[in-house]
Amino acid sequence: METVTTIAAVRERVRAWQSAGQRVAFVPTMGNLHAGHVSLIELARQRGDRFVASIFVNPMQFGPNEDFAHYPRTPREDERMLAAAGCDLMFMPEVTEIYPQGSERGTRVEVPGLSRLLDGEYRPGHFEGVSTVVAKLFHIVQPQVAVFGEKDFQQLTIIRRMVADLCMPVQIVAAPTVRDADGLALSSRNQYLTAGERAQAPAIYATLQAAARRLGGGADFTSIERDGVRALEAAGLRPDYFAVRQSADLAPANVGARELVVLCAVRFSKARLIDNISMTRA
Ligand code: PAJ
Repeated sequence: METVTTIAAVRERVRAWQSAGQRVAFVPTMGNLHAGHVSLIELARQRGDRFVASIFVNPMQFGPNEDFAHYPRTPREDERMLAAAGCDLMFMPEVTEIYPQGSERGTRVEVPGLSRLLDGEYRPGHFEGVSTVVAKLFHIVQPQVAVFGEKDFQQLTIIRRMVADLCMPVQIVAAPTVRDADGLALSSRNQYLTAGERAQAPAIYATLQAAARRLGGGADFTSIERDGVRALEAAGLRPDYFAVRQSADLAPANVGARELVVLCAVRFSKARLIDNISMTRA
């Protein structure tokens, strides 16, 4: 595996592969890789002949009071994991390579509506930061395929919409959420939890599963949302939201909707965790 830090170097490698007729698959990450990221990488390798990963902690998607400065950065371990997973090229740019004008002054990509809902309401500007950096990374790498995790369901939905709206020639593949044995979705931010918080955190997925079971049984959305908040609070957690939505556009679900997703965000002392469960009703 080769590690490069410049846009020019990525372009040169990818151009050579593509002119030899090879398909390029891409996984963008913020590093501090765990088994969830590795599952995306495995999926990507099945979809292409060459595999590129990026590691870039994107300042534009962090709010002023969020953890940009403290976000865990483990480039050497990441490099080892990517090499072991069969990665061909790791792109690890500096902030100035991606935002030569500064992240405040460059051109932005915004997906209206979708980026303001749910997490967008609690993290203003976050999804503009995500869609902008992913658009830039797609232009830099020019992959045929890119893989994103269902763990960040709203992010995945926004990227799909951006790609459709901007006619980007990249196929988006969704990877299922990888969880610890007790159900907690793997996340780089789990390491911010205290031991007590870590013991409470499995209640998030347990509550989502209970909601999914009730949805399958036909219970009404409002009572499922209300009971979800109550169950999380009863487990000692502080939810920002617990919402039943239509999978396609994250709009409040119609009574007859079949493709549904239940999403929630929970605040801890030093972390905010998100999770979701999607289902198809008979
Ligand atoms: P990051 O949090 O590093 O996640 C990179 C990719 O890994 C995302 O597609 C995310 O959904 C996926 N992922 C994280 N935890 C997962 C898990 N437990 N199971 C399956 N997939 C998981 O998401 C970002 O970075 C950034 O917003 C990015 C898209 C790179 C733009 O900066």
